Amino acid sequence: MSDAADRVWITDVGPRDGLQNESTPVPTAAKINLVDALSAAGLPDIEATAFVRASWVPQLADASEVMHGITRRQGTLYTVLVPNERGLDRAMEANPDKVAVFTAASETFAQRNTNASIDETFDRFAPVFERCSAAGLPVRAYVSTAIACPYEGAVAPGAVVRLIERLVDLGPCEIDLGDTIGAAGPEDIDALLDAVGGTVELSELVLHLHDTGGRALACAQRAIERGVRRFDAACGGLGGCPFAPGAPGNLSTSSLVRHCEATGLHTGIDVDAVDTAARAIRSVLNS
Ligand code: HMG
Ligand code: MG
Repeated sequence: MSDAADRVWITDVGPRDGLQNESTPVPTAAKINLVDALSAAGLPDIEATAFVRASWVPQLADASEVMHGITRRQGTLYTVLVPNERGLDRAMEANPDKVAVFTAASETFAQRNTNASIDETFDRFAPVFERCSAAGLPVRAYVSTAIACPYEGAVAPGAVVRLIERLVDLGPCEIDLGDTIGAAGPEDIDALLDAVGGTVELSELVLHLHDTGGRALACAQRAIERGVRRFDAACGGLGGCPFAPGAPGNLSTSSLVRHCEATGLHTGIDVDAVDTAARAIRSVLNS
């Protein structure tokens, strides 16, 4: 992992966030091919799947099969999302390189997404941190609805700061702020970064932008100007959360890579190979 100021670190969340919202079952082999194509394209970090409850997210019921079917590429981190210890039990059998847990800055979204209050999400993942620490596994911590909630509307940046303060105590390797429904414009990113900048180094923060209003790239650019160097994006701009109505695709990985490279920043990613991977998964989704 490079900390150089001209290096942008991209996690492709397409296999997880990109596919979780697809109503038609995607064959496990197509998911495996997607992960392998992304690692071959040079993605340093891939959120490969989620060990959540299948009745909640049926599309990712094959998480174990996906993790056992991929070909591990040296230098690629394979991250998996888990909501609780049960998810971690399942994930551990699949030998991930990193685990991601998630809470939200709005109570209604936490309830709809995880059947838990914000406090209960912490109760559930505190032991996940303990066990991962003992196993030497880094943990990413998401804060969803960091800009706006699909049920409650605008979220005050101060609410996000309070969550970050609690998360930092648990020892995450990174904190990832999610604009779950793609509500942000660059001015909202400024307000968020102004608020959180006193609690977390902006160069260590991750932004997870959905592209609902077509402003995700402009938001990423504003964040880059402010010193953020870590982003989530999804191959082909896939994405959405089943519990966040009106949350379509993530920021497209290719768009972000092209933008970075055009502005003198480096990602280490072969954008043509990402485009090929995007076409392959799109053809499966459209078939
Ligand atoms: P629950 O129904 O409250 O679960 O679901 P529970 O703790 O009451 O347990 C009930 C049963 O589920 C038990 O089984 C558990 O073992 C089982 P039983 O005893 O009845 O046989 N169970 C599980 N089984 C498999 N895997 C597990 C698991 N946990 C419990 N991990 C739960 C609570 C959190 C599990 C559920 O609400 C859930 O799976 N939610 C997932 C929601 C989700 O995946 N959302 C999308 C990801 S978040 C997102 O997209 C936002 C993000 O992209 C950032 C952004 O955009 O902002 C990250
Ligand atoms: Mg998301």
